Amino acid sequence: MAEGVCIVGLKIIGTGRMLPLKGIANTQLAAMVDTSDEWITTRTGIKNRYVCTTESLTDLAEGAARKALDNAGLSAAEIDMIICPTLAGDYAMPSLACCVAQRLGVACNAFDINAACSGFVYGLEVAQHFLASGKYRNILIVSADMMSRLIDWSDRSTCVLFGDGAAACVVTVGNAVKYIHNKAEPKWELLYSNSREGNSPFAPSSSDGGFVQMQGQEVYEFAVRAIPREITTALAAVGMETSEVKYFLLHQANSRIINAARAKLKQPGEKFPVNIDRYANTTAATIPILLDEMLEEGKISKGDTLVLVGFGAGMTIGTCVMEWE
Ligand code: ACO
Repeated sequence: MAEGVCIVGLKIIGTGRMLPLKGIANTQLAAMVDTSDEWITTRTGIKNRYVCTTESLTDLAEGAARKALDNAGLSAAEIDMIICPTLAGDYAMPSLACCVAQRLGVACNAFDINAACSGFVYGLEVAQHFLASGKYRNILIVSADMMSRLIDWSDRSTCVLFGDGAAACVVTVGNAVKYIHNKAEPKWELLYSNSREGNSPFAPSSSDGGFVQMQGQEVYEFAVRAIPREITTALAAVGMETSEVKYFLLHQANSRIINAARAKLKQPGEKFPVNIDRYANTTAATIPILLDEMLEEGKISKGDTLVLVGFGAGMTIGTCVMEWE
């Protein structure tokens, strides 16, 4: 059997999203750093992003989780695992997943995973394995990130790219997912942020304040090379053609990356939904936010084939083919 093909699969039975209240338009950023609406729009497709002010990341994650539970028609008590794909929760410990479990009033297996912007697809594969064990029935995946506290707001090359947000999915055993494959290519230095410094007198500390460091063009080139390659591999593994795919839900990092991948795959633009103009790059949350919006708008029907591709720091890349159930 080809690598990544699923024997015991899963299906998504409920989705929900939560964004912070405060929106920041490009024009507002242009008053803070040396940039312009024109530069940001033409280079990235971003027009707006939301950032936390009074909200914590746990607030966003809880809000998204409650909506996904409502949408699935389940109570929190029916969830037996919470997985949070996130770069960093509100605390180094406990995990964001433990904070969400406490807010929902449940005592269940709860933990975070960090695969940067590929986190949601990684989360699906982790959930699939736990479901296959037979021990778990309903798993809540809550992708949530607050990039506003990891970026340097005086660095125009990164601060214009990101936003905060959360989106959740309830998954259970099913046959929707046909293929999932995740991997990390050893290029961590292209995109990273240092962990919090302590005050150990025994170890040197870095001087970059923990802010996101990114080699933008190399990240761009990685994404444009890897996305079509991984999609082609995934579809070949399940014996499908690109023409049979209804939508390609790509991580929303840059609309130019999405367009370049689309052109390489020779597919029409309407198959590549985009919402980066409104939210910017919300890291692990971009794909489930997009999925939730599309379901809400009635754009996805039973039997539609979706291809999900996350990519990000690592460099990680995760690809999932599913037939919506
Ligand atoms: N406003 C105005 N000018 C800017 C800005 C800005 N916000 N940022 C950079 N510039 C300037 C640069 O200083 C440079 O000026 P110079 O020519 O005088 O030196 C010029 O614009 C061009 O800079 P480049 O870096 O070459 O711009 P590029 O066209 O490569 O676009 C971008 C930069 C948008 C970052 C692009 O490389 C990109 O999108 N890369 C991928 C980034 C990405 O996807 N990151 C997230 C990954 S997912 C995750 O895991 C978090």
